[in-house]
Amino acid sequence: MNDLKFEMAPETEPERQYFFIEQGAVLRKQKEEELKHPLTYHVTTFGCQMNAKDSEKMKGILNEMGFINCDDEKSADLVLFNTCTIRDNANQKFYGHLGSLNDKNHRNKDRITAVCGCMMQEKGCVEKIRNSYKFVNIIFGTHNIYKLAELVCLKLAGENFVCDVWDKPKDIVEDIPSIRKYPFKAGVNIMYGCNNYCTYCIVPYVRGAERSREAKEILMECEKLASEGVKEIMLLGQNVNSYGNGIKDSISFPELLKEVEKIEGIERIRFMTSHPKDLSDELITVMKGSNKICRHIHLPLQSGSSRILKAMNRRYSKEQYLELALKIRKELPDTAITTDIIVGFPGETPEDVDETIDVIKKVRFDGAFTFIYSKRAGTPAASMEQVDPELVKKEFNRVLEAVNKESKEMAALNTGKTEDVLVDDINEQDERLLTGRMSNNMTVHFPGERSLIGKIVNVRLEECKGFYYVGSMV
Ligand code: 5AD
Ligand code: SF4
Repeated sequence: MNDLKFEMAPETEPERQYFFIEQGAVLRKQKEEELKHPLTYHVTTFGCQMNAKDSEKMKGILNEMGFINCDDEKSADLVLFNTCTIRDNANQKFYGHLGSLNDKNHRNKDRITAVCGCMMQEKGCVEKIRNSYKFVNIIFGTHNIYKLAELVCLKLAGENFVCDVWDKPKDIVEDIPSIRKYPFKAGVNIMYGCNNYCTYCIVPYVRGAERSREAKEILMECEKLASEGVKEIMLLGQNVNSYGNGIKDSISFPELLKEVEKIEGIERIRFMTSHPKDLSDELITVMKGSNKICRHIHLPLQSGSSRILKAMNRRYSKEQYLELALKIRKELPDTAITTDIIVGFPGETPEDVDETIDVIKKVRFDGAFTFIYSKRAGTPAASMEQVDPELVKKEFNRVLEAVNKESKEMAALNTGKTEDVLVDDINEQDERLLTGRMSNNMTVHFPGERSLIGKIVNVRLEECKGFYYVGSMV
C-alpha cells in the first residue's frame, strides 16, 4: 500500500518532500500503534554553524512528520547524527560516540539510527560505518539533507538500510520546515560550498563548489523570520564576501547587507565567515554607516608567514592581512576581530610561527580559534612533508599563549562601558543570572528575570573574567 503511494510522489522539490512528510506522518502513526508509544527523535550536531543550520532544518522536518523532540539520545526512537570532518579529531570523536551506542538497546530493530553530514561525503566513510556500526540504518550526505522525510519514509516502510550520498550538489532546495534553537535569532544561508581550495581544507570536497542563493530569496527568508519575531540574523557562508559570484547581475555582499538592514524588526545582523582576500572597502563603508550590523568580523588568518600562506593557497601575504586588519581597526574601532590559526602546516618552521605571533601582537585579536594542522586525505597538503608532532605541540602552545594574552587584554578594555546585550538564556551555572551577547559577540552574565530572554537590554560591564564579562543592567 505504501509503495503505491510513494510512486505518486511529485518529481519537483520541495513539493516532493511535503508529500513524504505527509506519508511519513501516516507511517509514524502506524508504528506508534504497533509500539504503543509516541515516536521521539534526537539530533546530535558536530561542527560549524552550517551544520547547526542544517540540523535546524532536519529537526523541522521531523517535527512536521510528528516525531517528538527528546533530550535523551539513548532512549529516542530516531537518532540522527550530523557529522563534521574538518579535522581528524572530529571524525574520531564521532566514531567514539557511535561506538558508545553500540549496545543491545541500540541494535533494537525498531530504532532508526541516521547519520549524515560532511563525514559521509568522504571516501571510505560509508563503508566503515556499514562494516563496523551495523545498527546505522540511514546514511546520507551534505547535498540532500532536505530529503530526510523521504529517507525516513523508506525506512519506516520496511527497507533495512537506506543510503543516499551524492558526490555533487544538485539544485538548492529551500522552503522546507525548520525549527530554531532560539526564537529570536536565526542563521540564514546566503551561499553553500567553497571554491577556495585552501590546500589543507576538506570543505570544498565535502560541501561542493560555491553556490550563492538569489538575493530576493534570502531577503524573503529574512522578512519571514522578522515577522516571526527574529531580531538577530546571522548570514552564513564559507566566504560571504564573494557572495553573488556566478549569479548574473547579482548584488554584492555589502549591498545584500544594506537590503537586510532595511527589514523592520531585524535589529542585529551578523555574518560569518570572511576570507581576507575578498573583504572589500565597500563592506567597511557599509558597516560604518550601519546601526544594525554587529561589531564583529571573523577574519581567519591561518598563518602569519607569507611562505606558508602561499603553500596554503590563501592568496594573501602577511603584509596584505596586516594592512586589512589594521584598516578595520582604524575605520571600525569598536569592531572585534577574531580569527582562526593553524599550527603545524607541512613545512612550518619555528620562524614561520614567529611571523604568526608577530601578526597576533600587531592585530591584537579579540578572540582566536587555534588548531593543530590535521592531515585530510585527498587534500594537496596531505602529500606534503609533515612536521614532527612534538615540535607542533610546542609551537601550538606558543601561539596559544600569545592569542590568550592579547585577547584577554583586549577584552579588559571594555570594563566600565555600557553595551546593548541580546539576552540568550538563563546562565547554565547560576540560574539567577542571564547570559547574553554584545554586538562584538562577547558574552556577558548579569542578574535578571527570565522574561528578558530574547530582548535587547543595556548592561554595564563590571568585571572582565578573561573571555567574558560579569555586569549589571542599567
Ligand atoms: N587542520 C586544522 N585546521 C583546519 N581548518 C580547516 N581545515 C583544517 C585542517 N586540515 C580550520 C581553519 C578554518 C577552520 C574552520 O578550521 O582554521 O578556518
Ligand atoms: Fe576551507 Fe579555505 Fe574554503 Fe575556508 S576558505 S572552507 S579554509 S577551503
